[in-house]
Amino acid sequence: MRHHSVIQWLLLAVLISLIPAQALAGDGDPESGKRLFAKCRACHGADGDPRAYAESPVPFLGGQHSEYIVMALNGYAGGTRIHAGMQSRVEGLSAQQKQDIGAYLAQFELKAFSVPRSDTPSEIEQKVENCRSCHGERGNSFVAGFPRLIGQNRDYLIKVMRDYKNASRKNPTMVYIMNKVSENDLVRFADYYSSQPDGLSPVP
Ligand code: HEC
Ligand code: HEC
Repeated sequence: MRHHSVIQWLLLAVLISLIPAQALAGDGDPESGKRLFAKCRACHGADGDPRAYAESPVPFLGGQHSEYIVMALNGYAGGTRIHAGMQSRVEGLSAQQKQDIGAYLAQFELKAFSVPRSDTPSEIEQKVENCRSCHGERGNSFVAGFPRLIGQNRDYLIKVMRDYKNASRKNPTMVYIMNKVSENDLVRFADYYSSQPDGLSPVP
C-alpha cells in the first residue's frame, strides 16, 4: 500500500474513534425488545431462512451491538439506508422501542477469545488489518458503534459492501473506505468474515 493511503486510513480511524459511544447508547429493556421482535422473526429468526431472499440477503443479528442496531434502524427510517422492506418495518417504532430491540439482540453474547496471529499472514489477513481498528480481530468488534462482521451472512456482506461502494448506503466512512476496495477484494472480505468458526447468528 502506498504511504499516503496508510496515513489516510490511520487519520480516519482516529477521527471515527472520537465519536462518543454514549451518544448512541441508551437503556433498553430486553424483555420488551423480545416481544417487539416477534414480527421480525420471519426473516431474522433461527426458523426463518436468512438466505431465502436472493436479491436481498438477510443479516444475522444475534450478538450484534445494541448501539449499532439502533443506528441501523434509524438509517432505514431516515433514508441513509435504502431498503423499502426494512423502512416500512421500522417507521412505526419509537426511539425507546428501537433501544429495547437493541438490548434484546445484544444479549446473545459472542465468546471473547484471543487469536494467535500467524507469523506469515495470508494476503487477505494483511488486507483486513485495514478493517481491524474499527471492526476488531476477525470482525469481532468490541466498540458499540462499529458492527460485528464475524460470522455474518456472506451474501449480505457482499451486497452491503457494494451498497457502500455505489453510495446507496450513505455512511461516509464506509463509502470512503469501499471506494478504495476492488470488487475482487470485496468478495474475499466477505469470504473471510463469513467463514470464521463462530460469530453472529440468526436470532435463536
Ligand atoms: C421480510 C423480511 C424482514 C423482516 C420481517 C425484517 N427484516 Fe430486518 N432486514 C431484512 C433485510 C433483507 C435486511 C438487509 C437490508 C439491507 O440490505 O440493508 C435487514 C436489515 C436489518 C438490520 C440491519 C442489520 C445490519 O447488520 O446492519 C436490522 C438491525 C434489522 N433488519 C432489524 C429488523 C427488525 C428489528 C425487524 C422487525 C421490526 C426486522 N428487521 C424485520 C429483512 C427483514
Ligand atoms: C474507521 C472505522 C471503520 C473502518 C476502518 C472500517 N469500517 Fe466498516 N463500518 C464502520 C461503520 C461505522 C459501519 C456502520 C455504517 C452504517 O451505519 O451503515 C461499518 C459498516 C460495515 C459493514 C456493514 C455491516 C452491516 O452489518 O451492515 C461492512 C460489511 C463493513 N463495514 C466492512 C468493512 C471492511 C471490509 C473494512 C476494511 C476494508 C471496513 N469495514 C473498515 C466503520 C469502519
